[in-house]
Amino acid sequence: MIPPLERQALTAGPYRLTPLAQGDARDLLALFSDPAVAEFMDINPLVNFSEAREIVDWARDMAAGNRGLRWAIRRADDPRLIGTVGFNSLELERGRRGEVAYDLERAHWGRGVMSEILPYVMAFGFETLGLHRLEAMVTVGNIRSCKLLERQGFTLEGRLRDHAYWKGRFWDQLIYGRLAD
Ligand SMILES: CC(C)(COP(=O)(O)OP(=O)(O)OC[C@H]1O[C@@H](n2cnc3c(N)ncnc32)[C@H](O)[C@@H]1OP(=O)(O)O)[C@@H](O)C(=O)NCCC(=O)NCCS
Repeated sequence: MIPPLERQALTAGPYRLTPLAQGDARDLLALFSDPAVAEFMDINPLVNFSEAREIVDWARDMAAGNRGLRWAIRRADDPRLIGTVGFNSLELERGRRGEVAYDLERAHWGRGVMSEILPYVMAFGFETLGLHRLEAMVTVGNIRSCKLLERQGFTLEGRLRDHAYWKGRFWDQLIYGRLAD
């Protein structure tokens, strides 16, 4: 049994991770309206507040059903949301695996922020959720994401041809995996 995910906050070094809530929607709109942030994601850059609210609803439903969890990322000393991170899916019956996902405001790229946070998220997956395998799906071309995963000990396991469909076309995706030590 895993704990109720909708109430799971996490401290990740100097960062505070809290389950996405409707109060985060305005900051999410700012985050995901940046075309650079959305480039390799399954969304077009957001243009209105209701789209941000839908993302929060998706995250809250997932957490309420213990199917996944998406946290807002803030520095502990600053109320501004700077990104999100979490588990897009969890398989706890026919496996023990979770898919990690993450994003940061562009102003915070290139400083090791996600590299600092991800070990805490991975430890939460392996220890609190009892996962055996973490995976990540990366759209081909998202080099920053590949480098981040490789630094965290993920292995490139393959290229899934036309694995995703969004923005009117199919996309190849890379699958990365890391097993519990
Ligand atoms: C994916 C994403 C989070 C990666 O961000 P990032 O800042 O490159 O990742 P990291 O936190 O690992 O930082 C690494 C960078 O910080 C630098 N850095 C500085 N201090 C560091 C430290 N202590 N540890 C690691 N890296 C450090 C590294 O040199 C590297 O910079 P470089 O690529 O210019 O060499 C970011 O590009 C993003 O939000 N993209 C949009 C959303 C997205 O595509 N999400 C992924 C979907 S699969």
